[in-house]
Amino acid sequence: MTTEQAASVLPHLTGSFRSVRTATPVPAPGSSAHVEVEGHAIAVFNVGGNLYGIDSACPHRGCPLEKGRAESGQVVCPWHRLSFDLTTGAVAGGPGLLRRMSKPVTAYRVESADGFVTVLLPPSPRTVDSRNPVPGLTPALAA
Ligand code: FES
Repeated sequence: MTTEQAASVLPHLTGSFRSVRTATPVPAPGSSAHVEVEGHAIAVFNVGGNLYGIDSACPHRGCPLEKGRAESGQVVCPWHRLSFDLTTGAVAGGPGLLRRMSKPVTAYRVESADGFVTVLLPPSPRTVDSRNPVPGLTPALAA
């Protein structure tokens, strides 16, 4: 079975990314939520009705970034004031040396599906395996 055939069986497999629905309701405008999906801890922000997702853990000391204040396309870490671009995850501001030493966070594409947070994730070997592209099917059935 090809990846394209698997995509027809798994409608949530789109292009090179998978749309993974979570059980977390979409946060209200101006608020945020913490989402755990397939080993990714993601801070989800609703800014004026637009959803943004970045790694939850601040790369400095691990503060949950969903506790930060999101405004002007950035979130400010409440512990030591590093800020991150909500679209790219790049370091956008903060105290001098801390800013220069910090690594960016991963940005995720997040959407709403029936009021629940959906995260687009790249395919993983566990779900797109050329020998068994459909989880739950035996290789003999998938061939
Ligand atoms: S933990 Fe985020 S800036 Fe220090």
